[in-house]
Formats: sequence, C-alpha cells, structure tokens
Amino acid sequence: MAKRYFIETFGCQMNVLDSEKIAGSLQHVGMERADILSHADVIILNTCSVREKAVQKVYARLGELKHLANGREDLLIGVVGCMPQLEGESILKRAPFVNILAGPQKGHVIGDLVQRSNGNGKRIIDLRKDEDPSPLETVYIRRDNPWRAGVTISEGCNRRCTFCVVPITRGNDRARDSASIIHEAEDLIARGYVEIVLLGQTVNSYVDRVRHVNFAQLLRQLAGITGLRRIRFVSPHPSDFSDELLDVMVAFPQVCNQIHLPVQSGSTRILAKMRRGYTRERYLEIIRKIKNAPRNIAISTDIIVGFPGESEADFQDTLTLMDEVQYDSAFSFKYSPRPHTEAINFPDEISEKEKGRRLDIVQEKQKLIQYEMNASYIGKNVEVLVDGKAKSRVRLAGRMTNNKIVNFDGPEALFGRFVQVNITGFSSNSLKGNWIHS
Ligand code: SAH
Ligand code: F3S
Repeated sequence: MAKRYFIETFGCQMNVLDSEKIAGSLQHVGMERADILSHADVIILNTCSVREKAVQKVYARLGELKHLANGREDLLIGVVGCMPQLEGESILKRAPFVNILAGPQKGHVIGDLVQRSNGNGKRIIDLRKDEDPSPLETVYIRRDNPWRAGVTISEGCNRRCTFCVVPITRGNDRARDSASIIHEAEDLIARGYVEIVLLGQTVNSYVDRVRHVNFAQLLRQLAGITGLRRIRFVSPHPSDFSDELLDVMVAFPQVCNQIHLPVQSGSTRILAKMRRGYTRERYLEIIRKIKNAPRNIAISTDIIVGFPGESEADFQDTLTLMDEVQYDSAFSFKYSPRPHTEAINFPDEISEKEKGRRLDIVQEKQKLIQYEMNASYIGKNVEVLVDGKAKSRVRLAGRMTNNKIVNFDGPEALFGRFVQVNITGFSSNSLKGNWIHS
C-alpha cells in the first residue's frame, strides 16, 4: 500500500502554495494524501518564523506529535519552511524525534528527502541556501482548489526592513521568466481555473530583465488570457507602486479591485527606523491616487504596533492614518523581536502590556471602520465566486472581486461558479445574503 502523508501549513499564502508543491513532490514519489493526521506515515509541518508566536505554535504542535512519534518507529516527521531556515538544528534539541529539516527553498525535493530518510531512521537536514534555490517553475504540484490557483512569480526579498526575517529565510529576490508564468496561467485556464493569484514577497518589484517585462506589463499580459475571470496579487510594496500598475487595474476588470498595501506604521519617524523606504506623506499620496482612480479599489494593509521607540505620538500617527485611509481590512501585529534582524538590537523596547493595549485600540478601530463599510452593502446585488463552505449557519461562502466574503444558502453545485447575491446582513468581517437564481 502507498505511504500516506499529512501536511500542516502555518503562515502566509506563499506557504500555502509551497505546501501544494510539497504535496506534489510527495505524490511524485508515489505517496498519497492522508485524510487525517493519525493515518499518516509522514507528517510535514510547513512553518513560519515571521513572529515568535508562529514559532511557538509549531513547537506546541511538535509537543503533541511527540506522543505519536514515541509509539511509532515508522512515523516520519519533517519540519520544513522558514522556521528551520532561521533556527537551524536547535529545533532538534527541543524535538529530537524530528527526522527531516529543510528550508523554504526545498519544497520540490521533499519527496526525495523522505525517500532518503525512509526505512533506515536516517535524519536528513537540508538547510543550504542559494546553492540550489527552488526553481521558480512549478515542478510538482497537487493543487487543493480546482478554480483558484496560486502562481509564484518571484521569491525572496531585496529590501531589508529592520524587523523582518523574510530576506534571511527566503533569500534574495529572484524573478521567474515571464513567458513561463504566462504559460502556466494559460495552462491553468485551459484546465478550468478561473482565478489566479500571483505571489511574491514584494510582488510588484517583479521584473523579467531578459524579456524586459515589469510587473504592470506582466499583469496586462495575463489579464488578456481568454477565460481568465479574476487575477489577484500579494503583496505589493508601497515604494514600487507605479501609476502604470494602477492604469492596468483600471483598464482590466479581470484584475480584482483589491490591493493589499502594507503600511506598518503611520509615523514617518518609525517608518525610517523600520527602513520601509517611504514616508507617511508618500504612502498617503499613493492611497489618494488609488482612491481617485475611476474604479472602486478596496485597500487592505498590515500594521505593526510597539516597534522599539514607538512613542504615544507615533502610535497616534498610525491611528490617524487609519482614519484617513479607511482600510477595507487590516492585519495588525504586536512587534516581535526576531533573531538576526537589525531591530532586535534597537533600544527603547515597548512592554508587552503596552503593545497589547495598542493592538486592542488598532483592532477596535478597524472593526468599527469595517462595520460601517459593510453596512453600506445592505440591499445591493453583488457578484461572488463561490469558494466553499461557510463557517456560519448558512452553507456557502463566496468572495467579491474586492475580496469581501459573502455567506449565503445554496447548493454545493455552485462551488467554483460566479453567482449574484442580494445582501441582507453584515458583521464587521463578512456579509450575508440571498442567492439570486438566474
Ligand atoms: N512583503 C511580505 C511581508 C511578509 S511579513 C508580504 O506581504 O508578502 C507579513 C507581515 O508580517 C508584514 O507586513 C508585517 O506587518 C508583519 N511582520 C513582519 N515581521 C514582523 C515582526 N518582527 N513583528 C511583527 N510583525 C511582523
Ligand atoms: Fe520583509 Fe520588508 Fe521584504 S517586510 S519581505 S523585508 S519588504
């Protein structure tokens, strides 16, 4: 019987796509997916190290797996992705039963590593960086969703935000050949996919230097593919946001009217300490351009509170920026000091208690903004791509082009289809409505 694998994913959308590639690599060596963890012969934790909390979650899971590993000699456990790349073999001190450690560039070879380790109890560690970075081409993949597909266009990051481990774990920015991206997208559309999500750490810094294609031009070429209904991208960096990109978003309705533009802080002083490469004023100028564009574009962001030295006045700058922008959604985090980053040595640390207070204020404010925004949808008819099962009582969930979630009742036959929904209710996080039969 074929061996079975179970993958648990922590962290960002890029990790979700990496897990699909890891699954593809394991299937390539003849393995099959296990429906539940306890049925698996191989358990892979695809990890995140961007904040301490993400790392703690993985250690907590390893604590649970320890009991499983004790009773089963044949069970293989792999910890892969950003966490082993950052923490190295120290993971083995806390979890000596782990068999495989591999960094985020090794998704395509996990199948080989499992085979090498299998049967002889050999431990395999592959944390070398850049010698053989992951090919940006999709080598193996087992996609989870039959209508929305992630496509890697670049990996790594050349910026050096002082708080961030990503350049350390994922390495320098590498761009994929634009012809190969277009080829993959065409192939996906031919196989029935309707939505494509372009992924890169600073996705809009993309440039194919050989074919002279920048991000806006790539997006324009992709949007022209017949049959492609929606295209999204995460995450752009404010400093590389161009008028050309906005022009493409306006010209092509297939490009979703949503943009995630991480601000991190509303204080120019803190932004400089973070080395973000823009000021509050420059960021707001970009926001004004987006808002003035002849298309209603939803804007979301990431915010960090309690960066070293963030004064009450700096924090207030973040709050007033939120008032001004009126984000459609925001991910907010307490600053987490990370190993090997510059900011870990910065003075004027903010206490956990104060970080918590600031985070509560940011989240409360954002909740109110979203509540008011969502209220304005009552009575409107909107188009959604039906995504899956809803968490609430109503059965289905879909996404509008601006990425808002709409829950409604309907048959599962609607999965993967575009339908109209009349909005009848809302919360700060989602909308609710009635499917309009056509
Ligand atoms: N450019 C990347 C950013 C990766 S990290 C992308 O969006 O693809 C995602 C978010 O985590 C960042 O935007 C930032 O808000 C947050 N983050 C990163 N490092 C952090 C740290 N040390 N503490 C708290 N939040 C952090
Ligand atoms: Fe991290 Fe800044 Fe790059 S947040 S991924 S170093 S743009």
